[in-house]
Amino acid sequence: MTTANEIREKFLSFFKEKGHKIFPSSSLLPQDDPSLLFTSAGMNQFKEFFLHPPKDLKRAASCQKCLRTADIEEVGRVPGHHTFFEMLGNFSFGDYYKEEAIKWAWEFLTSKLSLPAEKLWVSVFEDDEESAQIWKKKIGLPEERIKKFGSRENFWPSNALEEGPDGPCGPCSEIFYDWEATGQQGREEFCPDNSIEVWNLVFTQFNRDKGKIEELKNKNVDTGMGLERLTAVLQGVRNDFETDLFKLIVESLPLPATRYPLPAHYIIADYIRAVVFTIADGAIPANEREGYVIRKLIRKAASLGRDLKIESPFLYNLVPVVVKLAEGVYPEVKEAEKRIKETIKEEEAKFIQTINRAISILDNKKDINEKTAFELYDTYGLPYEEIENLVSQRGIELNRQKFIQYVEKQRRRSREKSVFNKQIFTKQDEKERAKKQGLPLLGVWGEEEIDVARNHTATHILQSVLREILGRHIRQAGSIIFPAYFHFDFTHPRGLTKEELTKVEEMVNNRILNNDAVERELMPKQKAIEAGAIGLFEEKYGEEVQVVSIGNYSKEFCGGVHVRRTLSINKRRRKQD
Ligand code: ALA
Repeated sequence: MTTANEIREKFLSFFKEKGHKIFPSSSLLPQDDPSLLFTSAGMNQFKEFFLHPPKDLKRAASCQKCLRTADIEEVGRVPGHHTFFEMLGNFSFGDYYKEEAIKWAWEFLTSKLSLPAEKLWVSVFEDDEESAQIWKKKIGLPEERIKKFGSRENFWPSNALEEGPDGPCGPCSEIFYDWEATGQQGREEFCPDNSIEVWNLVFTQFNRDKGKIEELKNKNVDTGMGLERLTAVLQGVRNDFETDLFKLIVESLPLPATRYPLPAHYIIADYIRAVVFTIADGAIPANEREGYVIRKLIRKAASLGRDLKIESPFLYNLVPVVVKLAEGVYPEVKEAEKRIKETIKEEEAKFIQTINRAISILDNKKDINEKTAFELYDTYGLPYEEIENLVSQRGIELNRQKFIQYVEKQRRRSREKSVFNKQIFTKQDEKERAKKQGLPLLGVWGEEEIDVARNHTATHILQSVLREILGRHIRQAGSIIFPAYFHFDFTHPRGLTKEELTKVEEMVNNRILNNDAVERELMPKQKAIEAGAIGLFEEKYGEEVQVVSIGNYSKEFCGGVHVRRTLSINKRRRKQD
């Protein structure tokens, strides 16, 4: 049996041989794209390269950790749908185009993986005769196995021409594996029972900018192949959850007497992977943004566990098996194992408490309706199905549509007050202020401005120390700096212990007393990323970004004002000096 690990390796080494630079997966939490909550495709980390091809990078390949929430209801019910999945991809930035992309995809599937050619069929965009001809003439695929579809199916992002989003886009050609080689049917008949889409080859030739489609000077390739689906095909199982990527997780759950897993088992296995990988990358359960999704997934999984008659916290016990499966490929998951377990356990315990609270609320309520359901959902994060369960035990039926209306209203409200706006606002605010007051880096500052600069440099030191003591998952989640003090919010599953606090304090003080140099440097964004700079940055690729380094322990994208040496943070010392 070819294992998923072997498939991943084969893919990367195949494209390495074809001159591609292999990139590690970027984080599931995009660092520089406020339009995205989660990394959802291999191309995300290269988005700017399609618009501005770098001089020294023409070809790249990766296996990217992805998270998609759009299909969440399909998970466990329709084969090949996941919340978290790995996407294998090869990319060309203004270099090779349709012919090579198609030839290599075919070579990889039929020669490297030995998939029978007669079981493969493809689709192309209805206006893309060029791709159809390549499949026919260069690959020799019979015409009846080349289907043409419109922009919903064969444009990426789907329907981008009409509906957006803005950004690089283009026609695509998909490769399907037909389990039964049934041949000449349309897409509807093929999916999902007989065929499964394994690879999407996107020919990124346009940029959509505020709804306008512009042809790009350089032509690009962006491909994406779900590792889970491909593994299922190669392991001869129609259900991804029976592959070696999931089997151990499913088997770690108590199975029913029949020994056949139920959809709930699969859904839990899917969600736990999503949760483990996302927490490893720095998310923690919360009431907004990515934290909200994580909280929902944990609660939904916990709730399914209750349906399976698992009464006490159990999800956290699945962490070691997920870690074991990821080990070797994603070291950050192993590194964060303890923290992930703690986070999930705590969230599960909270959930059980919540259920008990909800039961007592319902016990005391006369009029139970959709509004009650929404309140339980919104205040306590209870999944709808769980609320429906609890309510139906009292003989009351809920109208899902009415409930959804309340949810939509809430979504609109929370979008307006996202943390993100606050972060960017604070940073810009500070920049604006410096600009307005004509604060040059080396100029003469007022006492207040110097105090702000001191505190700002201190936040960088604090972040570096937190990352060293608590782990690399620490990310700034908002910061506000005043002359007299600053706030620094960060992501961590629990409060700090007394010992940790003392250690943080000592290390920060040592770094201040060390009088380390604070240096700013303008550099291309890519170079800054390679140098390990952390933080948010708003500049586009190609533009120079400012990186502020302190000693050898801190490197952050930052446009704000700082002191020049760390000892200046210490007001008393500075005056004495
Ligand atoms: N970016 C393309 C996708 O996600 C390959 O399907």
